[in-house]
Amino acid sequence: MHAHREITLVRKVRYGLIGTGMMGYEHINNLKLMPEVEIAGITDPVPQSVQLAQMFLGDALKERVTVYPDRQAMLGDPSIDAVLISSPNFTHAEVLRDVIKSGKHVLCEKPLATTLEDVREVQALARSHRGVFWVGMEYRYMPPAARFIEEVAAGKVGKLQMLAIREHRFPFLKKVGDWNRFSKNTGGTMVEKCCHFFDLMRLIVKAKPVRVYCSGAMDVNHLDERYGGKVPDIIDNSYTIVDFENGVRAMLDLCMFAEGSKNQEEIAAVGDAGKLEVFIPDGDLVFSPRSPKGPVTTHVAVDETALRAGTHHGASFYQHRAFLDAVLNGGPVAVTADDGFWAVLMGLAAEMSAKEKRAVTIRELGA
Ligand SMILES: NC(=O)c1ccc[n+]([C@@H]2O[C@H](COP(=O)([O-])OP(=O)(O)OC[C@H]3O[C@@H](n4cnc5c(N)ncnc54)[C@H](O)[C@@H]3O)[C@@H](O)[C@H]2O)c1
Repeated sequence: MHAHREITLVRKVRYGLIGTGMMGYEHINNLKLMPEVEIAGITDPVPQSVQLAQMFLGDALKERVTVYPDRQAMLGDPSIDAVLISSPNFTHAEVLRDVIKSGKHVLCEKPLATTLEDVREVQALARSHRGVFWVGMEYRYMPPAARFIEEVAAGKVGKLQMLAIREHRFPFLKKVGDWNRFSKNTGGTMVEKCCHFFDLMRLIVKAKPVRVYCSGAMDVNHLDERYGGKVPDIIDNSYTIVDFENGVRAMLDLCMFAEGSKNQEEIAAVGDAGKLEVFIPDGDLVFSPRSPKGPVTTHVAVDETALRAGTHHGASFYQHRAFLDAVLNGGPVAVTADDGFWAVLMGLAAEMSAKEKRAVTIRELGA
């Protein structure tokens, strides 16, 4: 019998969380909404993170959740079916090596890894993974973004030619141990943050990226911060242009000192028949055909419970439903290790481009 079916018949899917910081709590809040899931274990080297996780679990639940001393102990427990990796970016590759050995289903937070060497290795290892392997690039699951992706795929703008993504938001938040202040820990902002957008580009454009030009630097945020005497080195604003093999061009406009913006994300796709835009969190889709002229505005509402369970406009909830469907019913793996690989690769190309002030070809990175 198929392993996924067996779980459906026998009991709830037992999840273990590796890393319980800010994103771990969002996962806990979402998993608590899933009747098919039992949060069975957590592990985190920082006691305060474990205590906060227990607070998010709540009194009734926390007694039933095992706190493992380390990931090896969790991965060695045959009663754990699936693990969520929400430890810092630079740990993903080492954690994944162990998880893949264990064969357990895994949802790994973005980015898949932080270096070219690691991301290649993980992509190759994931090919023979026995369980579901899913990368947490969840912006695809924000309901207005999901509708936008669907409509462009259905031909709403005609033949797609240009795709513009803007994220104007607040600066990077504080993390446990301040790991996100340095590119060596995160992969750099273009990997850490922008892997989401490079993933959206590939998903919408449906082609291989060829060339990346990124102009970016850290100009406003973190300048007065010091960690062990060192100044952070993470990009806080950038423009990136990506050329795709099918002739589509895409751009990303990132600003991380724009917390006053009405919308955090704005995406526009223009084709030979018209233009479609989406605004998040407003939730509006605006269609402006060339003829007859628009605009026509549609609102995409998000379920209140899903919205409240996280800070990603409901995305974590819908991503978890889709992951669970893959685990329980053999449903499709929407965000594969290959998707994770490409998003990191494009991010690394952008980081290199910004540093060297030149366009970087994907071929240079060996892909
Ligand atoms: N999907 C999204 O939109 C989204 C949003 C935020 C963060 N993230 C990702 O989630 C991950 C965690 O980010 P965060 O914001 O929760 O950071 P955080 O610093 O708040 O939490 C990370 C936790 O991992 C723990 N940790 C460190 N090393 C570990 C190890 N080897 N094994 C297990 N735990 C370890 C830390 O003690 C900490 O509690 C990152 O990869 C980040 O990129 C994704």
